Amino acid sequence: NNVLIIFGGKSNEYEVSLKSASAVIDNIDKDKYNIMTIGITKEGKWLRYEGSTNNIRNNTWYKHVSCKEAFLSPCQSHKGFIEIENNKANIVPVDVIFPVLHGKYAEDGTLQGLLELSEIPFVGCKTLSSAICMDKAIAHTLVAKEGIKVAKSITLYDKEDAINMLNEKAMKLPMYVKPAKSGSSIGITRISSFEELDYAIDEALLQDDKVVIEEAIDGFEVGCAILGKDELIVGGVDEIELSRGFFDFNEKYTLETSRIHTPARITDFKAEEIKEIATKIYKALSCEGLARVDMFIDKKGDVFFNEVNTIPGFTDSSRYPRMMDLIGLSYTKLIDKLIEVTLS
Ligand code: DAL
Ligand code: MG
Repeated sequence: NNVLIIFGGKSNEYEVSLKSASAVIDNIDKDKYNIMTIGITKEGKWLRYEGSTNNIRNNTWYKHVSCKEAFLSPCQSHKGFIEIENNKANIVPVDVIFPVLHGKYAEDGTLQGLLELSEIPFVGCKTLSSAICMDKAIAHTLVAKEGIKVAKSITLYDKEDAINMLNEKAMKLPMYVKPAKSGSSIGITRISSFEELDYAIDEALLQDDKVVIEEAIDGFEVGCAILGKDELIVGGVDEIELSRGFFDFNEKYTLETSRIHTPARITDFKAEEIKEIATKIYKALSCEGLARVDMFIDKKGDVFFNEVNTIPGFTDSSRYPRMMDLIGLSYTKLIDKLIEVTLS
């Protein structure tokens, strides 16, 4: 099988994708799959790349001699990507695409729309599901309809309205101010006084024109990894232990003061409840392929939905693969399973 891995992207999580994709390329079963890679630069240029994963990790890949302009055609009869060499266009056949890129123009349904038009099977959620999971306000509305708890929140486009809206809903500090669509906590600020609100909204507006302000849940965050479409494989549950208030970008990728416990330090009974709720959320948001469902458990033990990541961080030490490892799917087997489910 010819597997095309797409990485990079015009997204604020470009660097995260470089790590995720190099781990997938390094660990995929090369006896079974013939790997091809296309990188998308930060500017949005698509390049076929045939060099080492080291150059992907250190972000020099796009300067490599092997790079050729490449693109996907929305024309189904091509069943592959088009590569430009010496002003000639070659069609390179592809059986399955594994997009390993996060955030805007990557995980938000835009790329998935193009992949659907190409009619080449691809790993992960389709256009609709990717788009609704990317937008925290829309995902919350849909999940709340299923009777699952979500934090009290408001959505705004303009900071002039913020204080009135917060007062009307009697929202309490501390709160999180978030861009509706972003990832890896980029643009999110935790505020514990209203003096910080103006700054926080400006930070969120740098990433998206829509802002969500949520009450912080007093408790801790847990995640659950899910794979598949009709028959689901539900992985283990993990837990984020914070020693400061907020799992921001730096903490996520350095774990300086935080720890991730895989499995979570909760009872088996609670873990089962988390898995059930995560499955309900996965279905409510029409997920398929894979997703990591993030939730909170508050001091009373109530479970709240936080968000779904349809292309979660995918290095071999990332949360999704580690939670799948808990149920016996090693990293290489996990990649295999994702491709197998896509082709079935
Ligand atoms: N958005 C990052 C990649 C994650 O959810 O793991
Ligand atoms: Mg998250």
